[in-house]
Amino acid sequence: MRVLVTGGAGYIGSVVTAALLEGGHEVTVLDDLSTGHEDAVPEGATLVRASLHDSAPVLADVRPEAVLHFAAKSLVGQSQESPELYWENNVGGSLALLEAMRAADCRRIVFSSTAATYGEPEEVPILETAPTRPTNTYGASKLAVDAMLTSYAVAYDFAAVSLRYFNVGGAAYGRGERHATETHLIPIALQVAAGTREALTVYGQDYPTPDGTCIRDYVHVTDLAAAHLLALPAPAPGEHRIYNLGSGSGFSVQEMVDAVRTVTGHPLPVVVGPRRAGDPARLVASSELIHADLGWAPEHTALTEIVADAWEFAQQR
Ligand code: UFG
Repeated sequence: MRVLVTGGAGYIGSVVTAALLEGGHEVTVLDDLSTGHEDAVPEGATLVRASLHDSAPVLADVRPEAVLHFAAKSLVGQSQESPELYWENNVGGSLALLEAMRAADCRRIVFSSTAATYGEPEEVPILETAPTRPTNTYGASKLAVDAMLTSYAVAYDFAAVSLRYFNVGGAAYGRGERHATETHLIPIALQVAAGTREALTVYGQDYPTPDGTCIRDYVHVTDLAAAHLLALPAPAPGEHRIYNLGSGSGFSVQEMVDAVRTVTGHPLPVVVGPRRAGDPARLVASSELIHADLGWAPEHTALTEIVADAWEFAQQR
């Protein structure tokens, strides 16, 4: 298939681009390089440096059969401080993209949604039917795009899939996480192991969990990429599917610290700090639906494997 990947210079977008090329797809990447890296775009893909707001001429030129839409602002803290960035880029940018798709008669899309659309869950594992009450503007902006996709499917026969990622980690195809502003647990812990940061601050040890630290559902980026390839042809015109992507098991921050110590051999000094605002105690996905519908199941679920792959990537940089 001829596809357009927005955000293909970012962490997840570049891994999925590599997987698409390996699967024989023809890929054009649209990225404004605001947070992505030009050298992350896999060889074999064509990079067009442009904003989502200027995507119409790109779609008109490339005439893709499908779009995989990763480009977004994704920092929860920033979304609270500067919400306009999230409404402008994530919501306004996505609307411009959908309109550009409509004009180019491209009606198939896979969208990167998030666990943050659910907010503080009433029950775990979280099902796709759970209430969506985001606790930050990042989650609200992604939920708005999910709603947009539902209405474009109904009104304009779009075939759409929203994939709600939980905590993505690991590396693949020589590509991994590297953000100018790093807020995620695994890369921060690996910076400590690499000696570029002194200690890891654990945000709260007084949660109602067995060891008092937050529990998250970590999914390997390789498994995530496989889900995108399965999702791409799945929906029929007029259909918007929503699937969670997690491993179905939860690990605590303390368990992650232990895994990083095991993999790196570094003692990893830890400081216990206060809770971070808006962090739910426990976020674990039910991924039963995508398993039942598309046969997807994560294969790289051990924390040590996720950390080892991220560590190998971090050491190459
Ligand atoms: N954590 C620490 N210290 C750190 C960084 C993180 O203790 O220095 C803890 C957090 O409090 C949390 C866990 O590690 O309990 C994981 O935190 P991350 O920041 O790595 O990931 P989040 O669970 O906050 O974020 C994920 C996705 C977001 C999404 C969010 C929804 O990465 O995109 O879930 O809540 F918005």
